[in-house]
Amino acid sequence: MARRALITGISGQDGSYLAEYLLGQGYEVWGLARGQANPRVSRMRKQFADVRIVRGDLLDQGSLISAVERVQPDEVYNLGAISFVPMSWEQSELTGEVTGMGVLRMLEAIRVCSGVSRNGGTARGEQIRFYQASSSEMFGQVSETPQNERTSFHPRSPYGVAKAYGHFLTQNYRESYGMFAVSGILFNHESPRRGAEFVTRKVSLGVARIKLGLADELRLGNLEARRDWGFAGDYVQAMHLMLQADKPEDYVIGTGRMKSVRELAEAAFAAAGLDWERYVVTDQTLHRPAEVDLLCADPKKARAQLGWEPKVSFDELVAMMVEADLRLLSNGDDPEHDSSWP
Ligand code: NAP
Ligand code: GDD
Repeated sequence: MARRALITGISGQDGSYLAEYLLGQGYEVWGLARGQANPRVSRMRKQFADVRIVRGDLLDQGSLISAVERVQPDEVYNLGAISFVPMSWEQSELTGEVTGMGVLRMLEAIRVCSGVSRNGGTARGEQIRFYQASSSEMFGQVSETPQNERTSFHPRSPYGVAKAYGHFLTQNYRESYGMFAVSGILFNHESPRRGAEFVTRKVSLGVARIKLGLADELRLGNLEARRDWGFAGDYVQAMHLMLQADKPEDYVIGTGRMKSVRELAEAAFAAAGLDWERYVVTDQTLHRPAEVDLLCADPKKARAQLGWEPKVSFDELVAMMVEADLRLLSNGDDPEHDSSWP
C-alpha cells in the first residue's frame, strides 16, 4: 500500500514542491486546506490533481485531530505558518498562534490519534513521523558563522520567536513521548513559486516588469542584509530524507554560501541584460524594526548523515526566477502583490 503523507501549508511554495516530490515517490498525498474557499488551494489543485484535500486550520485543535483521524498518515509535514517576517510585527499574536501554537496543536493531534498517553503509554501500531518547518530566523543575531545544529538562538522577530517555540516543542515531544518528531532548520529557499512579498521574488518580478517596460524602478530596503539562498525544490527532498532516517534528529539545511541583497539585485538585473544601479531605489521605510544581518548554513551534518546536497547554485536560481517571471509577465499574468508590504 502507498505511504500516506499529510502536508499543512499545501498551498504555499514548499507545499507545492513537496507534494510534487512525494507524488513522484509514489505517496498518497493529502493537503490540509483552511477557509471556505481558498483560491490558493484551488490553484494548487489545478496544478496537482492527485493531491487530496482535508479541511483544517492550525488555529483549530479539533480540526487537526479530525484530519489526522481521517487521513491516517504515515508522515506529517507541518509547513503551515505565517511565514512573512514583517507581518509578524504587524500581527504578532496571530503569528504566535499559527506559527508557534499551531505546532503544539499538530503534535497533540498526532499524539492523541496514535494513542500515546501523557504518562508514557505505548503507541498503537506504526508511529506517525512528524516534520516541523523550523527556520534559520531562529539564529537571528548570530552568535557564530556559519550556523549549525548547536548554534544558539537569538530570534529578532515575533516570527523567529514563534519558530523557536515550535522547534523546542518538537524536541520536547520527541523526548517526552518518544515520538518520531524532527525539525529541519532551513535557510532561505526560493523558486518561481515564491510569494511576491519575499525579496528574491520581488526582485525577479521587478526586473521582469522593468525589462518589459511595465515599471521604471524597484524600491528595496536593506541592501546589506546577507542570506544563504537555495532552491526550494532541493530543500523539500531534505525534509523527506529526515523522516526516512533511522533516528529522529534535527538538521540544518542550506548551501553554506551567502550573498547580499545588493548582490541579488545585481545578478537578477544582469540576467536580463540590465544594470541594477539605474533602477534600484533604496527606501528607508522598507527597513525592519530589528534586522537579521546575516545567515549562513553549515549543512555538514545533513551531507554526512542524509547524503543531502543542494544542486542549484545561486546564479542558476536567480536566472531561473527572472526567466520564469519574464515568461509570466509576457503572457499577461502578474501575481497579485499587496504593495502595502515592504
Ligand atoms: P508560504 O509560501 O508562506 O506558505 C505558508 C502556508 O501556510 C500556506 O499554505 C498557508 O495557507 C498556510 N497557512 C497559513 N495560516 C494557516 C493556518 N492558520 N492554518 C493552516 N495553514 C496555514 O511558506 P513557504 O515558503 O512555503 O514555507 C513553508 C514553511 O517553511 C513555513 O512554515 C515557513 O515558515 C518555513 N520556512 C520557510 C523558509 C523559506 O525560505 N521558504 C525557510 C525556513 C522555514 P493559505 O493558503 O491558507 O494562506
Ligand atoms: N521582503 C523584502 N522586501 N525584504 C527586503 C527588501 C524588500 O523590499 N529589501 C531588503 N530586504 C531584506 C530584508 O530586510 C531581509 O534582510 C532580506 O531581504 C530577506 O527578506 P525576505 O525575503 O522577506 O526573507 P526573510 O529572510 O525575512 O525570511 C524568509 O526566510 C526565513 C529563513 O531564514 C522567510 O521565508 C521566512 O519564512 C524564513 O523562515
